[in-house]
Amino acid sequence: MEILDGKKVSNDIKDEIAAEVQKMKKRGEKVPHLAAVLVGNDGASLTYVGSKVKSCERVGFESTLVKMPSTTSEVELLAKIKELNEDNDIDGFIVQLPLPPQIDTQKVLLAVDPDKDVDGFHPMNFGKMALDMSTFIPATPFGILELLERYDVDTKGKHTVVIGRSHIVGRPMSILMGRKGWPGNSTVTLTHSHTKNITQIISQADIVISALGVPNFLKAEMVKDDAVIIDVGITRVPDESRPRGYKIVGDVDYDNVSKKASFITPVPGGVGPMTIAMLLKNTLLARERHRNSVSK
Ligand code: GUN
Repeated sequence: MEILDGKKVSNDIKDEIAAEVQKMKKRGEKVPHLAAVLVGNDGASLTYVGSKVKSCERVGFESTLVKMPSTTSEVELLAKIKELNEDNDIDGFIVQLPLPPQIDTQKVLLAVDPDKDVDGFHPMNFGKMALDMSTFIPATPFGILELLERYDVDTKGKHTVVIGRSHIVGRPMSILMGRKGWPGNSTVTLTHSHTKNITQIISQADIVISALGVPNFLKAEMVKDDAVIIDVGITRVPDESRPRGYKIVGDVDYDNVSKKASFITPVPGGVGPMTIAMLLKNTLLARERHRNSVSK
């Protein structure tokens, strides 16, 4: 069994990005600038956005954190997005999800300029992804592809079972694993809450990508020998022994499943850190595209 070490690989990617930023600086060019919009005080979202901003510093990007109160109206958020779309200094930005209930998420995602949509959530970018066109690939699926690539995991002709059909992970992952090329060329089954015989389907998987958010859902007896296991679950479970009062638990019963797997991602330290690294990669890409389109 080999661990797909997202912590290590994400650090390597950040080093690579930092080296690119140094080259940009030497050439006297503007460095990439990422903005993150956070509406409200959701604890997990605060942590994620904080890590995103900190990672920008680590690679030499500029970053802007836009904090808005949980009472923000849809009109106010759309006005902020318009401002970011029009700000030539910002190369890419994200609106952290979930948003408070008074705001229509679809309207918000549609308002983001596709050229600055480093999350890859705009329908234009999602459509391009589905059609194999060059675009921003959503950071979590992009991070999983990168892990599979860097560990030389064979995906061709394999049966990939994706658990969960969220717009952020499951749905794009199912498309990407079935695309022509590598990582891809898999036969994909996308499972969800209405799937019948889900345990039987999982037992046939060569690659399992679990993005369910149910701690310890995936047990050793459910998976095939030598399966590749990708755990996207990040649930906070109360734990008094930790200074924060909680621990992060994945969808996979790691101790037992890892004994059967050929490759497996740990939680934490697997997919999570890769998401941030790939967001930075998309921001670098956005900067390069803007530079090439306006030569500034
Ligand atoms: N919420 C959970 N994951 C993500 C993500 O990748 N991007 C944004 N914007 N919000 C999220």
